[in-house]
Amino acid sequence: MPWPYRLQCFDCHAQYPAQTTNYRCERCGGLLEVTFRISRRKVPWTNRGLSVWRYRELLPVDNDRFITTLVEGGTGLHHCPRLGRELGLKRLYVKNEGENPTGSFKDRGMTVALSKARELGKRKVVCASTGNTAASLAAYSARAGLKCVVIVPEGKVAAGKMLQVMIHGARIFQVRGDFDEAMRAVVTLAEHRKGFYLMNSLNPFRLEGQKTLAYEVCDQLDGEVPESLVLPVGNGGNISAIWKGFGEFQTLGITKTRPRVIGVQAEGAAPIVKAVKRKRDRIEPVTSPRTIASAIRIGSPVNWTKVLHAINESHGTAETVSDKEILEAQRDLASKEGIFVEPASAASIAGLRKSREAGKIDRSDLVVCVATGHGLKDPSVVDYLPKHEGYTLKITQPDWIERLERTI
Ligand code: F0G
Repeated sequence: MPWPYRLQCFDCHAQYPAQTTNYRCERCGGLLEVTFRISRRKVPWTNRGLSVWRYRELLPVDNDRFITTLVEGGTGLHHCPRLGRELGLKRLYVKNEGENPTGSFKDRGMTVALSKARELGKRKVVCASTGNTAASLAAYSARAGLKCVVIVPEGKVAAGKMLQVMIHGARIFQVRGDFDEAMRAVVTLAEHRKGFYLMNSLNPFRLEGQKTLAYEVCDQLDGEVPESLVLPVGNGGNISAIWKGFGEFQTLGITKTRPRVIGVQAEGAAPIVKAVKRKRDRIEPVTSPRTIASAIRIGSPVNWTKVLHAINESHGTAETVSDKEILEAQRDLASKEGIFVEPASAASIAGLRKSREAGKIDRSDLVVCVATGHGLKDPSVVDYLPKHEGYTLKITQPDWIERLERTI
């Protein structure tokens, strides 16, 4: 059973009952969030294995009967000494969310939101997506036997993600335009047809699953809290959820501090970074966002109020990175630490490098970078790898072993 919770407007703090299915405040149109009644206490989960559902009491699904899981969370927090040395950092860790069932952090949120959807009696779920949300929703809907509709920007989703959506049997609709248009379409659909339950990060129940990343990081560091947490920002759900998670652990008395959160966006899709750098309290949407990191090719992030709050409250910052920097960071992490992530995820490493160079992160800081999705999802980056000389092995030649050695 979860601890008592309710829904609350992020802006005007209007309260709503726990079973509310709206995702916007009826009074002011603000974003909703789940708020748990928590205080310092001894927690019941210390002997449970690391996973999203380890933190059952802080997940807003009332009845265990509805839980739909593929065993998500419990991803590795990998110490990266080689890359850390290169970046001049004593303690660099990468939280590899590609280890989740469908290869991205979305599964953390989806197990909770899909379970909640079932508890609320929903039969049809819908999302707009740059790929990973759709892949995750398709898998969890298949697991639960729900109908799944995904709306994606035509021709702008990585091949691996499209394959996932198709193999899990979701209904795919493609819109001419970018993600922001797909997002507008699903919101309109969900507003006009109550039977379709919206599963984007506007859905506050999804963010409740995603906040468990923060809990896990604290537990994996034996109660220590990173000084800085760096992660890519698209729609802004993840950074907001993780910030909430760190806050809850502090309220419970498990940890004493919270990290600075550093949001990274691609140069061609950086409305949040622009607002942070200009010290604005609202964003200006970017039309026709552009970047190789298709997962974060978003010009009008729906969770922007929550993101600006998280960055400001944490005394964090935001950074843009170029596509070239993203691709270099992707290769660095793969070739120096053995962790293969998709371009959007590599943006966090590229952003970390830039923040270090700008002196925004101290050498002695404990830094955690969130690698949000697996590299195999987007095979198109092969086109950007440095051209290797193709070596053909002619094993009919008697000296083939010597020839092989000479090339190394
Ligand atoms: N990294 C990856 C790999 C993503 O797929 C996304 C978002 C993000 C980072 C950004 O997270 O939106 O919570 O700020 N992907 C969404 C999708 C938009 O549809 O899959 P965010």
